[in-house]
Amino acid sequence: MSIIFDEKKKVFKLDTPNTSYAFHITNSKHLLHLYYGKKIPETDLTFLLRIPNDEPFVPATHDAMGPHSFDCAPIEFPTSGVADFREPSMQLMDENGMSACECYYKDYKIYKGKKPLKGLPATYGDEDDVTSLEVYCHDPLNGLEIILQYSVFEKLDIITRSVKVQNKGKSPLELRRLLSLSVDLDHKDFDMITLNGTWARERHVERAPLRFGKQVVDSCRGATSHAHNNFIALCDHKADEDYGEAYGFALVYSGSFISGCEVYQYEKTRVFSGINPYDFSWHLKIDEEFQAPEVIMTFSYQGLGQMSRNLHDVIRQHLIRGKWKDIRRPVLINNWEATYFNFDTEKLIQIARDAAQAGIDMLVMDDGWFGGRSDDTTSLGDWYVNEEKIKGGLKYLVDEVNKLGLKFGIWFEPEMISPDSDLYRKHPDWCIHIPGRYRTTARSQLVLDFSRKDVRDYIYSRIKEILSSANIEYVKWDMNRQLSEVGNEVLPAIRQREIWHRYVLGVYEMQERLLTDFPDLLLENCAGGGARYDCGMLYYSPQIWTSDDTDAIERLKIQHGTSMCYPCSTMGAHVSAVPNHCVGRTTPFQTRGHVALVGTFGYELDITKLSDEEKSAIKEQIAEFDKYNFLVRSGDFYRIGNPFKSTRFDAWEFVAKDKSEALLQYVQILKTPSLFLHRIRLKGLEQGQYYRHEQTGKVYSAEILMNSGFDIPNLWGDFHSYLAYFKKV
Ligand code: GLA
Repeated sequence: MSIIFDEKKKVFKLDTPNTSYAFHITNSKHLLHLYYGKKIPETDLTFLLRIPNDEPFVPATHDAMGPHSFDCAPIEFPTSGVADFREPSMQLMDENGMSACECYYKDYKIYKGKKPLKGLPATYGDEDDVTSLEVYCHDPLNGLEIILQYSVFEKLDIITRSVKVQNKGKSPLELRRLLSLSVDLDHKDFDMITLNGTWARERHVERAPLRFGKQVVDSCRGATSHAHNNFIALCDHKADEDYGEAYGFALVYSGSFISGCEVYQYEKTRVFSGINPYDFSWHLKIDEEFQAPEVIMTFSYQGLGQMSRNLHDVIRQHLIRGKWKDIRRPVLINNWEATYFNFDTEKLIQIARDAAQAGIDMLVMDDGWFGGRSDDTTSLGDWYVNEEKIKGGLKYLVDEVNKLGLKFGIWFEPEMISPDSDLYRKHPDWCIHIPGRYRTTARSQLVLDFSRKDVRDYIYSRIKEILSSANIEYVKWDMNRQLSEVGNEVLPAIRQREIWHRYVLGVYEMQERLLTDFPDLLLENCAGGGARYDCGMLYYSPQIWTSDDTDAIERLKIQHGTSMCYPCSTMGAHVSAVPNHCVGRTTPFQTRGHVALVGTFGYELDITKLSDEEKSAIKEQIAEFDKYNFLVRSGDFYRIGNPFKSTRFDAWEFVAKDKSEALLQYVQILKTPSLFLHRIRLKGLEQGQYYRHEQTGKVYSAEILMNSGFDIPNLWGDFHSYLAYFKKV
């Protein structure tokens, strides 16, 4: 059994194949954290607590537990205002304006399987995959019931956590914060890894030793953001890809968040993650409840590589859903970088014709097909086909594209409204706004109030009509700005601060509706590139547009950073035109292909302008994609190079789960003179076995490939790439 309760010692112990997590109920009914790390056999772990009784200058509580200083204790679910001065998970205001709250244990339940979280994305699994624990707690003074939710994946080193609160008291309560995760770790000797950046430079890896005090990444933008991802990792100072201890924490949420650590005076670390309490509150009437999002946790004692592989497995197997989860996805060509807004039916058909000949599977019509939109200043919200551009109508275009043998996909930006749109002229109150206050635009657009059902219903009806009008098999759902002046004229004052979270719930509800009505649809999320690349969105779309930066060299860093948490199969990656539209760099066609092969693979260029040689290169690239797609989609990913540390090269590898094949990919960044062939050590092969290198036919032992390495042939010039495929003999 992966979750046990030791009645005598009052210890809950959660075991995955290689990790253990434990906490204890004290005599005073407090929950104290005992352990999270490599698997341990015993459950009698209360001796680990080491709580001082009366530390000088630390308030001491006296209760059934005896005198103890709360501020020193590892608390499983820390609450505010009760002499634990560290980052709390919960804060609320009662009708008397009091904000202290507590969490006392009442009861528990262990069951096979996992319940969905109402209205929120979450990992799932059946009774063979996962066991769950609910710990029922309460605050007797205000009547709040607190349910701590844990699930353990039986075959993966993954534990999830969340919390739900219910107001069972006699008066309304105002929830001011409810974080999803708090873990008190027993020391402070960690590096924290965060993924940061900006537009076109998302999820660059930053690693720094923890300092005393709080260090966080957050967003108060209503979306995860380009600036910071909500995933964080902690590892020991010496940990690298293959050695050392590493914890990973991924929040399954797409709105404003906070994730971070506090190193406190006793030289220990509290890790936390959840909805950002900044500008958040939630009114809980009697009997109302609030569900916090889920956090996925993993621990690896085999370095950051294994941490990432654990997360990749749970995301691929237990978060992503639907028809496209485990099958080859179409190779698409998107017209954005080819035409931007300047296209019509004829141009799209020309692209489709050449794309069909090159073996591409799907044409995606990007921004600019609706209302009067010819640039980014108008028409968001006017989801009517612009028949001046799409001459003959959408159905005609889609039918023609289908006749050429291509599927058809379409771009929407459902959450937005242009002030210059018919929809805005009719409903100026439908955007998020504060009456009387200036409405800040970004990219000339405002954000529709998706916390409102009437607004969602209207937009959904437009999307549904468009999707039902022709054979549309893919949607790119974009979101190109963040939220400001957050308010509306619908909710009462006490519920205004709920809009941030209600908005996110609205987005989730819309995507759920879309997938219910169109179960075969392939959905790709996007937010000005990768501003909403998170586990929340991956519950709805198996792929996300990684970044608007499609330059192969910039992508090395972006994809390396993204892979810290997210599987390669989720990364929207295309071969695009050169010089690249973000950096002006020219890279070889082959390198662009190899870098895009890491992700979903597709094209983002005007194929009609390519040379015959490049067009036949596309055929070869698609053949390569087909050959390696299963391995890339389902295999284990190993980072070998580090583009943040080396300007010489990057390299990575996919190894089949059964170790029968491996694909090594190498990109020479800047050519370095007077160095011999670059010898790269492979990882993850089966010891004692032999592998044939396909291109040369040479057979190597796994040991030589992993301990000495494989010689990359000499590549002449910057930005060239090489791909080596090995099959077990
Ligand atoms: C965003 C997306 C791009 C493209 C444009 C269209 O920037 O990331 O891929 O769809 O919007 O306006």
